[in-house]
Amino acid sequence: MKVGTRHYRTIWLAEDGRTVRIIDQTRLPHDFVLADLTTMDQAATAIADMWVRGAPLIGATAGYGMALQMAEDPSDAGLARGHAVLLATRPTAVNLRWALDDMRRLLAPLPPSDRTAAAYARAAEICDEDVEINRRIGTHGLALIEAIAARKPGPVNILTHCNAGWLATVDWGTATAPIYLAAAKGIPLHVWVDETRPRNQGAHLTAWEMDSHAIPHHLIVDNAGGHLMQHGQVDMVIVGTDRTTAQGDVCNKIGTYLKALAAHDNGVPFYVALPSPTIDWTVRDGVAEIPIEERSADEVSFVQGKLADGTRTRLRISPEGTPAANPAFDVTPARLVTGLITERGIAPASAQGLAALFPDLAP
Ligand code: MRU
Repeated sequence: MKVGTRHYRTIWLAEDGRTVRIIDQTRLPHDFVLADLTTMDQAATAIADMWVRGAPLIGATAGYGMALQMAEDPSDAGLARGHAVLLATRPTAVNLRWALDDMRRLLAPLPPSDRTAAAYARAAEICDEDVEINRRIGTHGLALIEAIAARKPGPVNILTHCNAGWLATVDWGTATAPIYLAAAKGIPLHVWVDETRPRNQGAHLTAWEMDSHAIPHHLIVDNAGGHLMQHGQVDMVIVGTDRTTAQGDVCNKIGTYLKALAAHDNGVPFYVALPSPTIDWTVRDGVAEIPIEERSADEVSFVQGKLADGTRTRLRISPEGTPAANPAFDVTPARLVTGLITERGIAPASAQGLAALFPDLAP
């Protein structure tokens, strides 16, 4: 998508064809800063410290992380180390494991001398595939927005949580792809952007994306959604996902479940934008089986921002003695999901629904 007049992806190769360049998302919305990754360990740090984040972009970065590792050490031991180190960075988004397993399947049978070139080529392909998947999700989601626009006057009000925008993917975003396409078609839209405590991906990233693309939006506190739904101010919810089970349970950023409950209670359609690499066919019951990342308590106890003089700072918001807990994701059971917007169309959130769209992938 565009930043100013220039088109960017979130990850690409620098001029030397080896260095991996990313947008440092910890600096947004205040500063647009690029960062270079030259080693696998740097790629692992970029994922763990959330310079890059969002399930599809985590997968793409892991792909390039393996390429960097092959450039450093293409031996079998190097391959195993790259896979293990990158896999340990974040536990919930299944795209990480998907990309690493994909790379290992490709690289393991090759002689070490061929591994670096093959790894860079596959990492680039993973990125291109992600862009195409999201574009397709966009076209299927667009039809839903068009249907709502056709039956009501005024803008279509869409609520989204966290950032499932282009910053969370290689381009387009998943939840935002339909929004960008609808805006390009001139459909009147308005987006409610959940701030998404504690990391504030909504306030920092989704709001920045909406602002950059001139899409009407309001930032709201995470607790406002239910009230807005009760008052008819939300026509649909579209969120992303970090892992969706074979039976359609959706794991996404903490707080998503509460939005789904409120949507269910108020008859508001609740859609999840789901690229196929985010489906974990090995698990069924999301609540019981998906590992939920526990992040640092400091993310809850402190807020980050920029002072008027431009200094970046963090401020404590709770008593020094108060411990904080920070589960980073939750699971929305399939029964609360109106539909899964995939690259192959919209599936009911059920084992049958997913298997019908992905007979080649379902076990
Ligand atoms: O902790 P994050 O910022 O990586 O969490 C991101 C989300 O929860 C997104 O909604 C999800 O990855 C889908 S991104 C298309």
